[in-house]
Amino acid sequence: MREKIEKLNAEFKHLDAKGLLEHFLKKYSGKIALSSSFGAEDQVLSDMILKIDPDAYIFTLDTGRLPQQTYDVMDRTNLKYRIKIRVYFPESKDIEKLYYMQGANGFYDSIENRKECCYVRKIAPLKRALEGVEVWITGLRAEQSPTREEMQPLEWDESNGVIKLNPLILWKESDVWSYIKENGVPYNALHDEGYPSIGCEPCTRAVEVGADIRSGRWWWESPEHKECGLHIKETK
Ligand code: ADX
Ligand code: SF4
Repeated sequence: MREKIEKLNAEFKHLDAKGLLEHFLKKYSGKIALSSSFGAEDQVLSDMILKIDPDAYIFTLDTGRLPQQTYDVMDRTNLKYRIKIRVYFPESKDIEKLYYMQGANGFYDSIENRKECCYVRKIAPLKRALEGVEVWITGLRAEQSPTREEMQPLEWDESNGVIKLNPLILWKESDVWSYIKENGVPYNALHDEGYPSIGCEPCTRAVEVGADIRSGRWWWESPEHKECGLHIKETK
């Protein structure tokens, strides 16, 4: 699979984000999905994708711990594009067990607890969201984190058995914001309050201007641990 992905990356090297989306949305129609956390990158992708295919499958993983501003931009996005982004929620029995095992805020106590919480609230619902999907579109960018530096526009995601398409992998933060402003794309109000990267409310905080983009995510952990598990790089 690694060779196939290397070939695909070479084949599509000349295409920009829009070109990649046009190609893959057409080729994998009905089997391609964008996962959106309503962050700036995902809002750019939703806008691009819906301009190509107004019926495209876009889903979000509602962890149950999101900030109010994320729900606001969810509603504003649905209204603007006249769509209903699909929402996947964790299984109630898993959340009940999680509270029993680690309490309501156990994610602050250890990396294991934090990963378990991310697993139950994001990874398990992601598997349901990706059923029948062959290409998973994400808003990952290489400069976001040391764990993403080596990523390519196309990756193989072993744990979900899908091709991962990262059209914005080479975009800079300024490219994202230029697109948003030029195209009147709705965005999360927290971005104007010092939050470059937004996840769950208890695990995200504002950062100083110029600080590392993801330093406000799981700020009590070191950078190499700062992945919830959605995007673990496969080596196969
Ligand atoms: S995370 O793994 O640290 O949470 P990040 O917030 O940087 O990821 O987002 C990277 C990409 O992961 C997004 O562009 C999006 O495709 C996907 N993603 C992250 N969180 C969610 C979510 N709650 N729902 C859907 N997709 C998500
Ligand atoms: Fe749980 Fe925090 Fe992960 Fe959200 S980001 S799923 S609250 S540990």
